[in-house]
This record gives sequence, structure tokens and C-alpha cells, in this order.
Amino acid sequence: MSSDNFQSVLTETRVFPPSAEFAAAARVNAAKMAELRAAAAADFTGFWGAYAKSELSWATPFKTVLDDSKAPNYRWFHDGTLNASYNCLDRHLATKGDKIAIRYEGEKGDTRNYTYRELHAEVCKLANAIKAKGIVKGDRVVLYLPHSPEAVIAMQACARLGVIHSVVFGGFSATALRDRIEDTGAKLVITADGNQRGGNVVDLKKACDEALALGCPSVEGVIVAKRTGHAITMKDGRDAWWHEATAKLPADCEPVNVEAEHPLFLLYTSGSTGKPKGIQHCTGGYLLGAMLSAQWVFDLKEDDLFWCTADVGWVTGHSYVTYGPLANGASVMIYEGVPTVPDAGRFWKICQDHGVTIFYTAPTAIRALMKSGEEIPNQYDLSELRLLGSVGEPINPEAWMWYHRVIGKEKLPIVDTWWQTETGSIMMSPLPGATPTKPGSCTQPLPGLFADVVDEMGEPVVGKTAGGYLVLTKPWPSMLRTIWGDNERYKKTYYGQFPVRPDGTHLYVAGDSTHRDEDGYYWILGRTDDVLNVSGHRLGTMEVESALVSHPRVAEAAVVGRPHEVKGEAVCAFVICKGVRPTGDEALALIKELREHVAKEIGPIAKPDDIRLADGLPKTRSGKIMRRLLRSIAKGEEITQDVSTLENPGIVAQLAGKA
Ligand code: WTA
Repeated sequence: MSSDNFQSVLTETRVFPPSAEFAAAARVNAAKMAELRAAAAADFTGFWGAYAKSELSWATPFKTVLDDSKAPNYRWFHDGTLNASYNCLDRHLATKGDKIAIRYEGEKGDTRNYTYRELHAEVCKLANAIKAKGIVKGDRVVLYLPHSPEAVIAMQACARLGVIHSVVFGGFSATALRDRIEDTGAKLVITADGNQRGGNVVDLKKACDEALALGCPSVEGVIVAKRTGHAITMKDGRDAWWHEATAKLPADCEPVNVEAEHPLFLLYTSGSTGKPKGIQHCTGGYLLGAMLSAQWVFDLKEDDLFWCTADVGWVTGHSYVTYGPLANGASVMIYEGVPTVPDAGRFWKICQDHGVTIFYTAPTAIRALMKSGEEIPNQYDLSELRLLGSVGEPINPEAWMWYHRVIGKEKLPIVDTWWQTETGSIMMSPLPGATPTKPGSCTQPLPGLFADVVDEMGEPVVGKTAGGYLVLTKPWPSMLRTIWGDNERYKKTYYGQFPVRPDGTHLYVAGDSTHRDEDGYYWILGRTDDVLNVSGHRLGTMEVESALVSHPRVAEAAVVGRPHEVKGEAVCAFVICKGVRPTGDEALALIKELREHVAKEIGPIAKPDDIRLADGLPKTRSGKIMRRLLRSIAKGEEITQDVSTLENPGIVAQLAGKA
């Protein structure tokens, strides 16, 4: 946790109640929110059961809401069956067939729209092509695609067949892709020739070919979407063009109904070991969480155009580009490209040109756009916007206020939404027509969800301004079900830190530290584990360390984060070389090479900002790396703590550049 952050949340006292105008038209106003909270507190399973019944279309109705007999492996609605794609598409066709489901704009300004009927047809065709490859319910398919309608179509096509998709972010390298494909045992990969990003073509197919050449024995076929049209190689017998594979297939495909607990997708995320975890989400509970939270938090209405800027490669893109909005029959905006092409006005231009009404982005984007000055957004007509959202990392009060003043014109509510890949949907957030907001606080759990702050022993921290570990005290429908292939790791990571309470409560440990103020508002301070949050992307320090150590010149590496003005956190690596430590130009060349090496092993997002070569790392006598000390050094802080008990106290001065 950063102490600067802690200070700023302690001194923040501004409060912004919802406007009377917004509250009057909102799906949930203060009275309704109180009613929902009371209903959930009085009858927890009744509350969720009623929503599961009213919001989702079931093929076989469920009888049991929650089965906690094998806690913390919870099951929700497990005796019911349904299909996620049916819930997102088919059930809207009669009433909303001609409504826009997706409005798309590419980086070069090209646009495409899909109505619900058109989207349904595309999804069915691709589902038929996947089926023709012999892929059946329960098989895994890896999607390595641009942030484009194709990604949504592919996710929906898999869901239609009960096939488990695992989207790998297009910015991940061939090695990272290989690791994920191998862990899922996918039979099929769906990719594209490439995508347009930052004015360049990203060669996705080439990375995919490299990944498959490195291993992935389970993969039998590859479907390739044509996006950029640049030359690529196609492997006979393995690779097929999407447009050719779907050309002659019917635009209809019977959805396969699955048990509510059937896995819908796997999504890999970083943890405190070198190996990313395949977070497993299920069909029924996940869809309910994504759908209901989208209604409550974003106040989704029939004529909204909802733009969540997150890439489909992350959980935010799963829940608030694909599943949540579509289950609600809403219209979503997809922009494939970077926010600064051709200039920092791109986001605002898109809002203006398409008439975006709800805009949901990450603090890192807000901070970056803030730096380019308010004259830029002021050039655009943002009058259609009615609600703003933030996700992915703590939003500092300065960025919140800028968002509020410059984009929201001091009128629009801001929903700061706290959640995780593991939680599947938003856990804490203001409800825009009900909750007074405070800049930097994600306020309170949504109705039906329960959080607490506990100390090292798992005991509730009481008092006006409680600080400690953030835990969730009751299960929830969209929770992760397990870690793919490693249920023990699931139990240990999320439920193993604190003992089960005498009343049988299992505490879900989020891995974040938090502060709760006298109004019961939560202020997330940062991760408590070895996970960094770089531009809203989760990165395990161990992952970066293993990437560094896989370079032939590296003997040992330690990675820590330091605060960064735009990215939130920057990656700092301390590296011990094999043999003699290079200096001067040789050192600079090696540092450059190591940064490229990390990009190759994981992806450009993981490239360390700073790499320092040293002769050793500060260790305790038992051999443990003193990360706290490294974090202080990375921040350039004066080292005041006693280092004499270290095994090698002299190294501190060298690392700090003082020797
Ligand atoms: C952080 C992204 C503060 C937090 C949906 C969490 C936040 C991690 C917020 C999950 C927020 C996410 N305020 N911190 N509103 N939202 N985080 O899995 O540390 O990519 O544990 O899910 O991001 O990141 P993930």
C-alpha cells in the first residue's frame, strides 16, 4: 500500500450526492437501494433466487439457490439449465431484433454496426463452424483476437455450444499464449491475421504460429479472421479462414443448454507465483452477476449506448462489453485502437460521434488524458453522456475531480467500481441514483454482497476508520468456482488465509488492503500480495522475475512496484548477472535486451520501467529478499531502517546508487 495514497484518502472530505434529476429517473434510487439491502439481509438466498428467476431465461428451472455443502466450493442454481448465448441474443430477437447490439469503430475510423439479429446470425454461423471441427460441450477454445466484434462473436459462439472459451489478451506474447493454451488443453484457437493498434499492424497470426510451434499438442485447428489483410502463412490442414469456414453454414444454430455450474470461460490472471491462474467462471451465476450489476451500477436503459473501453482480453471486457450489456439487450460501443490516435481527443470524439451515454474506463486512461489538457475534451460535444465509470485500480481524488469537472461538467455521477477477475462482476460501487459519492472511494458493496475489514488474524477491525484486509463474507453468484485444474490452490489462495469463523463463515480474501471510514465507505489502498497494477493490468512480480531469470545472463532478479503518475505503478527490477556485472554501455545494452526479453516472454505491458544491475539483493539471514527495502529504494526514498541485520548490509548503498 502506498503511504501517499493512504494520506490522500484520509484527508478527502468532499461528498457529491446524486442529482435530483438523475435520481428521479434512475432504476435504483435511495429508497429502492435501502429496500434491496434489507431484502438481501433478511433472506439472502431468497433475494438471489428471485433475481435469477426474473432476469435469466432457464431451459430447466432451478430448485436450489445455493449449495454450500462443500464450501468454499459453492454451487449456485446447480439443478437448473440454460444457455448464455440464448440469454444474450435469442431472447431479444422478438422485441429487439433491429436494435443495435454493437457499434464499432476501428482505429482508422472504419465503422460497422450489428443489430441483435445480425449478431445472432454471425454467432450461429461461427458456432456451426466450430461444431464442424468436432468441438463439443466442455472442450476449450482459446481466443486470441483484437478488441473487435469478432471477439464478442467468438465468445458467444463458444457459449452457444457449451464450449469453454479462454480469451488471451492480444498484447500477450507467443510464450504467454503457449502457456495459456497448454494449461487449458484447447483443441481450437481462434485468432486474426492482425490488428491495427497505435498506427501499426500487430501480427497476431505470427504470434499464434510461434506459440503453436513451441508446443500446444492439444491444438487441432486454427480459425483466422481476416482483419488487416496483410500477408500471413496458413498451415494446410490446420488453419482455416473464418469467412471461408462460415461461408456456407446456416445462420441458425440450436443453443446447447448446460447446467448452471457448467464453466462458461477461463480467464488467466496473475497471482503471487510465477504461474498465472486460470480463473474458472460458470454459466448461470456469472451471467446473473454481470447482468444485474450492469443494470444497477450503469442504470442501463433502452436507449443507452454503453461504452466500456476495456479490452475483451480482460474480465471487464467479458462482463461489461460482452455478457452483462447483451444479457440486458443493451447497445454497446467497441473501439479497437489506442486513445491517443490520432490525438488525445479520440475517446471524446467517439463519445460525440456515436452519442455514447455511459462511459466506463480506467484511472490510468483518465490520468493520461488529463495530462494532455482540458482544451482537448472541451472541443467535443459530450452532452449525450449521462454517467461515468472507473475500474481497475484506485482512482486518485485529483483524477476523479478532473473526470467530474471536465468530462462530467460537474453534473454526471461517477461510479468507481471495485471488483476482480475472480469476482466476475462489480462488488462495490455507488449506485448512481442512490449513493452520495466521495472522490477515491468505491463506497459500499452492492445489495446482496457483504464485505468486511479484518486484521492479520481475520478478526473484524472495528472503529470509525478501520484499516486492514478486504474480505467478502458471503458467497455470491458470479464468484469464481475454482482455479482450472487446481482446486487446492483455489481454496488456499482465496479461503485459506483466515480460519473459518465459528458461525461457519468462510472469508474470501481479495488480496487488497482497504480503509473503511465512519460512513462505512471503502477506500481501496492497493494489493497486499506480490501483484502489481500497471495501467490497470494485473502483473505478478514473480512472473516478471521468472521471465528475467530465463535470460542466460541473469542469475537472480527481484521485481517491485513504485508509484507512477500515469500508470499507477511502474515495474522496477533488480537484477544480478551471471559472471561479472557489466558497466557503462555494456550495462545499457544488457538492460535494453532484458526489457525486450520480458516483452517476448510475457508481453510489452510487463516491460520493466527500471532495471538496476547489482552484485546482490538485500536478504535476511534466512535468505528472504527484503522487498520492502527494495520498494523504498525504487521510490528513491532515504533508507532509514536498520539494515545491519541483513546478510549483506553493504548492498543497500549500491542498489540505491550510493556506492
Ligand atoms: C484493483 C479488474 C481500487 C484491485 C476488474 C483488485 C481496484 C484488482 C478497483 C483486480 C477500484 C479494481 N478501486 N482498486 N475501483 N478495481 N481494482 O482482476 O487491486 O484485473 O484486486 O480485475 O484491481 O484486477 P483485475
